[in-house]
Amino acid sequence: MRIGAFELPNALFVAPMAGVTDRPFRMLCRRLGAGYAVSEMVTSKRELWASLKTSRRADHRGEPGPVAVQIAGVAPAEMADAARYNIDRGAQIIDINMGCPAKKVCHAWAGSALMRDETLALAIIEAVVAACTPRGVPVTLKMRTGWCAGQRNAPRLARAAQDAGIAMLAVHGRTREQGYGGCAEHDTVAQIKAVLAIPVVANGDIDSPERAREVLAYTRADALMIGRAAQGRPWIFGEIAHFLAHGTRLAPPATRDVQRWLTEHLHDHYALYGEGVGVRSARKHIGWAVRALPGGEAFRAAMNTLDDGAAQLRAVTTFFDELAAVHPRLPAANDTRARKQA
Ligand SMILES: Cc1cc2nc3c(=O)[nH]c(=O)nc-3n(C[C@H](O)[C@H](O)[C@H](O)COP(=O)(O)O)c2cc1C
Repeated sequence: MRIGAFELPNALFVAPMAGVTDRPFRMLCRRLGAGYAVSEMVTSKRELWASLKTSRRADHRGEPGPVAVQIAGVAPAEMADAARYNIDRGAQIIDINMGCPAKKVCHAWAGSALMRDETLALAIIEAVVAACTPRGVPVTLKMRTGWCAGQRNAPRLARAAQDAGIAMLAVHGRTREQGYGGCAEHDTVAQIKAVLAIPVVANGDIDSPERAREVLAYTRADALMIGRAAQGRPWIFGEIAHFLAHGTRLAPPATRDVQRWLTEHLHDHYALYGEGVGVRSARKHIGWAVRALPGGEAFRAAMNTLDDGAAQLRAVTTFFDELAAVHPRLPAANDTRARKQA
């Protein structure tokens, strides 16, 4: 699997998730089997680039390449500037966000709202490609299937994007109107894959090795992108890679390994955000990691009251020490079916 000149180690991608796929989480997923990870989106608004939030997002120290940065905005010239700004800070691939339904983005008509205005969408693509091509930086695009059920224009926009120089396309199998409701469909991505020459990535509700194999076979996509199923379960990439290669499921990870991964992740998280902010923003990662484990819900409620890093780490250590004494391997309850019921 290639994006421009970059050969990726495998075709399993971490989906960009604002507030989740920061550098520590991306690096953890890469370590546990993901072949590629796109950063959380960076706004094209120049006045926000100096903010702590944006400068943290543009910090790629220690990250394995290729470093891919997603940009979001509505004005072609601003998006081109944002691409150049991020290339100057280490981005090797620029991804355009036409997939995010968040209100904050859509109020400014960015993200998936752009799919409603194909002329503007294409103008943005052309401006970003023109900014990146002279610097040898490929531009990729992430979109939904369309604005609403009656307006599934992804295939048309995909073809135009390819003609405009996009190097890879990821498609989340829902419309903007669907938000995250219902089930993702993969017919549209299969349709797009059948007519495009560039690599096409299928995204949406891929939450198990079996589902990954089905979506790959059905769409003939070049790669899979996984978001929510990796929350609290970053080893899912290794599980899927193993299943695709051998047709058998890996045993669940050793509880001690999960404990070590989470502890290392927390240290990296505090280092990026500082302890005060880091302890609070780490709660979601800990919550996802324990939510379907025995005693996980009660632990999560208690852990959410802790305000310092040492206490948070101690609580995590005690929880996993006790779990490991009874379950040397993670109980099967941490698979996705159980998580959905939780
Ligand atoms: C918390 C959260 C934040 C997200 N942020 C972004 C984003 O910044 N850019 C983007 O293109 N998509 C974003 N998405 C969409 C995901 O990349 C992905 O398309 C979607 O979650 C479907 O994949 P999944 O079913 O594997 O989670 C976000 C999704 C979630 C759940």
